[in-house]
Amino acid sequence: MAVPERVPSRRQLPRRLLLLLLPLAAGVGRAGGARWSGEGTSPHLQSIFLGRCAEYSALLRPELRDKNCTAIWEAFKVVLDKDPCSVLPSDYDLFINLSRHSIPRDKSLFWENNHLLVTSYAENTRRFMPVCDVLYGRVGDFLSWCRQKNASGLDYQSCPTSEDCENNPVDSFWKRASMQYSTDSSGVIYVMLNGSEPEGAYPINGFFADYEVPYFQKDKITRIEIWVMHDIGRPNVESCGEGSVKILEARLKEMGFQYSCVDDYRPVKLLQCVDHSTHPDCALNSAAVSTHREAPSYYAKQSVSHIIPLLLALASGTQMKL
Ligand SMILES: *[C@@H]1O[C@H](CO)[C@@H](O)[C@H](O)[C@H]1NC(C)=O
Ligand SMILES: *[C@@H]1O[C@H](CO)[C@@H](O)[C@H](O)[C@H]1NC(C)=O
Ligand SMILES: *[C@@H]1O[C@H](CO)[C@@H](O)[C@H](O)[C@H]1NC(C)=O
Ligand SMILES: *[C@@H]1O[C@H](CO)[C@@H](O)[C@H](O)[C@H]1NC(C)=O
Repeated sequence: MAVPERVPSRRQLPRRLLLLLLPLAAGVGRAGGARWSGEGTSPHLQSIFLGRCAEYSALLRPELRDKNCTAIWEAFKVVLDKDPCSVLPSDYDLFINLSRHSIPRDKSLFWENNHLLVTSYAENTRRFMPVCDVLYGRVGDFLSWCRQKNASGLDYQSCPTSEDCENNPVDSFWKRASMQYSTDSSGVIYVMLNGSEPEGAYPINGFFADYEVPYFQKDKITRIEIWVMHDIGRPNVESCGEGSVKILEARLKEMGFQYSCVDDYRPVKLLQCVDHSTHPDCALNSAAVSTHREAPSYYAKQSVSHIIPLLLALASGTQMKL
C-alpha cells in the first residue's frame, strides 16, 4: 500500500489550531508534559464510545439492534494496549468486522476539509451517510485515543499525529474505516470538497485520495458527483476544472468513472447561508429576483413562499429531496 508522506487528519482543523498555538506555547506545552502534537485521549472515551454505539444501533438504525457494543468496544480497545506509534490499520480488523453494516445505495458522501458542513448536511444519516455516520465511524468521530509511550494507561496529555509517526492509533483507525467505507459504497458517489482551502480542494495525499479512491468498487458505482463548496465571504481558491480538482477529475476519468462536478451545489449552499443570511452571496437567486420584480405580484409572492419554507426546512434539519 502506498504510504502518504503526510496524511491530513480527519481532525485537521483542531490540529491546525494546535500547530498555530504550539510555537506560542513552546516551553509551556511541551514542558508541561505533552509529548505529541495531537490532542490527548478524549475524557470518558469508553462511555462516549459505548453510548454512541448503543444510540446508533438501538435508536437510529434498529435493524442493527443485534450489534454487540461491548464486543465492539473490546475489539477496539486492543489498540489501547499498544505502543502509540505501532498501531496498524489491520489492528482494527476485528473491530470493523463486528461493527460493519451496509451503506444504502446513493447515500455515500466522501469529503475532505469540511467535517462540520458534512455532518450537518448528512443530518444524522437521514439525508446522507458519510463515514462518520456509519457505526464504525460514529463511535470514533471527533475523538482521540492512545496509550502512554512507555507505560500502560491512556495518555490524556497528547497523542501522536502523522507528524509524529505514521502508525498512530487515530490515523490508522480512519485509514481502516475509510477503506471499508469505500469498499461498501455503491450507486452514485458524492464527494464534497472545500474550494476555499488554500492547499487545494483535493489533497493529493489524503484519506480520500489514498484510502478511499483506490477502494472504489467499479462494478457497484454508477457515477461520481463532486461538489466544490466555497465558504461564504472567503476567497474562492479552486473550482471545478481547476488546480487539484482537475487532478481528481483526470484520475477518475482514467479509472473509467462517469463523473460530474458542481460548484457550490445549491442545497449545501443554502445550508451554509443559514449562518450568513445577509451576505450578498446568499441573496436568493438575485437574477431571478430582479426579473420577477416586474412580474405580477402573485408570482413574486409564490416564489418567496417557496423559498422560505425551504430555508426553514434546511435550518431545522427536515429531510428534503431537492
Ligand atoms: C457481547 O459480547 C460480550 C463480550 O464479547 C459477551 O460477553 C456477551 O455475552 C455478548 N452479549 C451477547 C448478547 O451476545
Ligand atoms: C467477520 O468475519 C467472519 C470470519 O472471518 C466472517 O465470516 C464474517 O462474514 C465477517 N463479518 C463481516 C460483517 O464482515
Ligand atoms: C474550508 O477551508 C477553510 C480553510 O482551511 C476553513 O477555514 C473552512 O472552515 C473550511 N470550510 C468548512 C465548511 O469546513
Ligand atoms: C522506558 O521504559 C524503560 C524501562 O522501564 C526505561 O529504561 C526507559 O528509559 C524509558 N524510556 C523513556 C523514553 O521514558
